Amino acid sequence: MPWKTLDDMDLAGKVVLTRVDINVPMESGRVTDMTRIDKIRPTVEDIVARGGKVVLLAHFDRPKGKVVPEMSLGHVVDALAGSLGRKVVFAADCVGDAAAAAIAKAGPADVVLLENTRFHPGEEKNDPDLARQMAALGQVYVNDAFSAAHRAHASTEGLARQLPAAAGRLMEAELKALDAALGNARRPAVAVVGGAKVSTKIELLANLVTKVDHLVIGGGMANTFLVAEGIEVGRSLAEREMAETAREIRLRAQRAGCRIHLPVDVVVAREFKAGAESQTVGVHKCPPDAMILDAGPQTVAELEAVFAGAKTLIWNGPLGAFEIPPFDAATNAAAQAAARLTKAGSLVSVAGGGDTVAALNAAGAAADFTFISTAGGAFLEWMEGKELPGVKALMA
Ligand code: 3PG
Repeated sequence: MPWKTLDDMDLAGKVVLTRVDINVPMESGRVTDMTRIDKIRPTVEDIVARGGKVVLLAHFDRPKGKVVPEMSLGHVVDALAGSLGRKVVFAADCVGDAAAAAIAKAGPADVVLLENTRFHPGEEKNDPDLARQMAALGQVYVNDAFSAAHRAHASTEGLARQLPAAAGRLMEAELKALDAALGNARRPAVAVVGGAKVSTKIELLANLVTKVDHLVIGGGMANTFLVAEGIEVGRSLAEREMAETAREIRLRAQRAGCRIHLPVDVVVAREFKAGAESQTVGVHKCPPDAMILDAGPQTVAELEAVFAGAKTLIWNGPLGAFEIPPFDAATNAAAQAAARLTKAGSLVSVAGGGDTVAALNAAGAAADFTFISTAGGAFLEWMEGKELPGVKALMA
């Protein structure tokens, strides 16, 4: 591996500045999804077991360089302590005397949580001075925040250049899974890309067609590809101005030997609401006053056959309007098929980004996927083939 891990570091008696992503959803002051917090546990446990003192650096929301009390990481202290089963000592700043005092006060088995790094304007500017102030607090830097690695910020990039640096366990797991899914995937490999708009995923599609054998396009994006083929989609969500781009992506896929799969049948409705009256029609038969809201059963059967012949699957985005039943049927069925094949040992399945995890959870399929990334934007940028600054800095 081109980066160091915790196994390569001597942590005994050292203060380990550990960048984590605990940017979790909250409602009325309570954490509503603990996934990101729970996922940092292996790194914290490992550092403590190796005699290091864990000092967590993290951002929360987007305060844009100002102190915004509602965006204080103080709100997650209880959730963090509960998940880690350790005392959490909170510091009201991520640098300076307040941070140093909290670190000095914490016992060897305690965890120190420093205040939101984004309260400092230097964080998003990757200000070397702020990185130096952070570095002054410890002796080792561990980055466990793959999901923030697409940001070149002081705590994700600059700090790695100030101290001996290593990837944490979650970062390691993310990088290994993503490499197995796209970097060095076992073939045939299939990518499922859904979601509303082609315009937000052009780079991702253009990169994927050169990396996988099959590209399944779903959701509103599929409608744009259908329009590009001259197929009428009625009142469906479609970016007609992106038709030329869709054709270019098809051409690129053809040249690269990647087969693009579009819906062959679709579920249409006249209203976009739960339980709306719907019908399944051939893809050429969308009535002018209707909208395509999901892929049909024949499409799902075709996808299941593609999955069954594949060794690797990477999934981003739902196949239909999955939040509104019954338009979640294709996403559910395809996700469950992928989960079954993974469980049977014939498929390595990796998913991440945006709505994907919610869709796979709703399908009851997430637990059987090989790996579910905690990342949103970072997962997408990585699928686009971009180098992530937080990962690159670990390799320096
Ligand atoms: C995320 O939630 O995807 C990460 O924490 C990054 O957050 P950001 O998009 O505000 O940089």
